[in-house]
Amino acid sequence: MNKLLIEGVSRTFAGVRGGQPVKALMPIDLAVAANDFITILGPSGCGKSTLLRIVAGLEASSEGRVLLDGKAVTRPGPDRGMVFQSYTLFPWLTVAQNIAFGLRERGMPEKERDGVVASYVNLVGLKGFENHWPKQLSGGMQQRTAIARALANDPEILLLDEPFGALDNQTRGLMQELLLGIWERRQKTVLFVTHDIEEAIFMASRVIVMTARPGRIKSDVAIDLPHPRHYTLKTSPEFSALKARLTEDIRVEAMRTAQA
Ligand SMILES: Nc1ncnc2c1ncn2[C@@H]1O[C@H](COP(=O)(O)OP(=O)(O)O)[C@@H](O)[C@H]1O
Ligand SMILES: [Mg+2]
Repeated sequence: MNKLLIEGVSRTFAGVRGGQPVKALMPIDLAVAANDFITILGPSGCGKSTLLRIVAGLEASSEGRVLLDGKAVTRPGPDRGMVFQSYTLFPWLTVAQNIAFGLRERGMPEKERDGVVASYVNLVGLKGFENHWPKQLSGGMQQRTAIARALANDPEILLLDEPFGALDNQTRGLMQELLLGIWERRQKTVLFVTHDIEEAIFMASRVIVMTARPGRIKSDVAIDLPHPRHYTLKTSPEFSALKARLTEDIRVEAMRTAQA
């Protein structure tokens, strides 16, 4: 059975102040297998965030439905862990308290919670920073905390919307390796939105390219590069060939956006 099934999901937003409605997404069909790492590429405004928010249950679809483990998604739930581009930690909670947030909501006893939090603090390399406040952390450390917070609930699927988009290149590369390393060891089903082609290839088992708005799936490319992946892979001939192909796909769509 598919882990996630997106069936004919479209979205049209009502016009602002009597203006024309905005068709953000054409009907999308996408079947995601368990432990797939899917990256979604597409020009700005093509509906990537809208699609992810519909899967998260934060936004309703106009048509179609989303099934997670065969159950229709109607609202947010602990079976879906979200990480956004902008830092969304609770500023009044420490690193450890942020990571513990969902566990606490679920009523996990403190002792067990402390153990789970410690293991995720270690997993994302934040040992020694448990009692820091978000504002005392760099952007990369904040995103590591956000990833740990999402993973600590042991979600069925991880939904990431340009999670490294605000980071400098160096940090971004390190974060890619960190998240990929976690995925290689723990296995998770992941939907990861990015506009960075190299990032999309490096992370994915499958890259989905969306067209300019209204977004639909333009191409669906299996990435058979071996694991574990190391950043030096980015200079290999196989990687370059994939990059050339996807760059062309995106360029055509970005030009359509620019002309619209
Ligand atoms: N809440 C909303 N109300 C009206 N229009 C929206 C809303 N959210 C998104 N849109 C529009 O839908 C389109 C897709 O947006 P979005 O999903 O954010 O694209 P992306 O993440 O690919 O850049 C854009 O034209 C955007 O302006
Ligand atoms: Mg977006």
